[in-house]
Amino acid sequence: MIRKIDHVGIATADIDETGTWFDRVLGLPRDEVDVVESQRVRVGFHPCSDVRFELLEATHEESTIRRHLQKRGPGVHHVAFEVDDIDAELKRLRSLGVRLIDESPRPGAHGTRIAFLHPKSTHGMLTELVERPGPK
Ligand code: CO
Repeated sequence: MIRKIDHVGIATADIDETGTWFDRVLGLPRDEVDVVESQRVRVGFHPCSDVRFELLEATHEESTIRRHLQKRGPGVHHVAFEVDDIDAELKRLRSLGVRLIDESPRPGAHGTRIAFLHPKSTHGMLTELVERPGPK
């Protein structure tokens, strides 16, 4: 079951420049920066109440974020929903014929488990599921 929006991913060529805009114009300062080598991105997080904006910058030519910027330019990249049980949710979505990018969950930041659904199956919205650690 979906609980809430966890974060909104934003593709940008420069998370520092875009992050400064989030801080100065929206009043949403960055609380964390991370490099995720496995996904070839540098990430900056800007909380807004209990939802975070996840600014994504490519660290490699082959990064999916680099390809997204080349095809579509900067802007919203994905929406992530927190789910209580990601295995059950993937099973349910598969039974409905939803195309999955990740057939099984992979490790995300902070002990989370994540999986992406294919935008061809989600009306164009690249969708991420996030299960936070702890009791279900
Ligand atoms: Co994300």
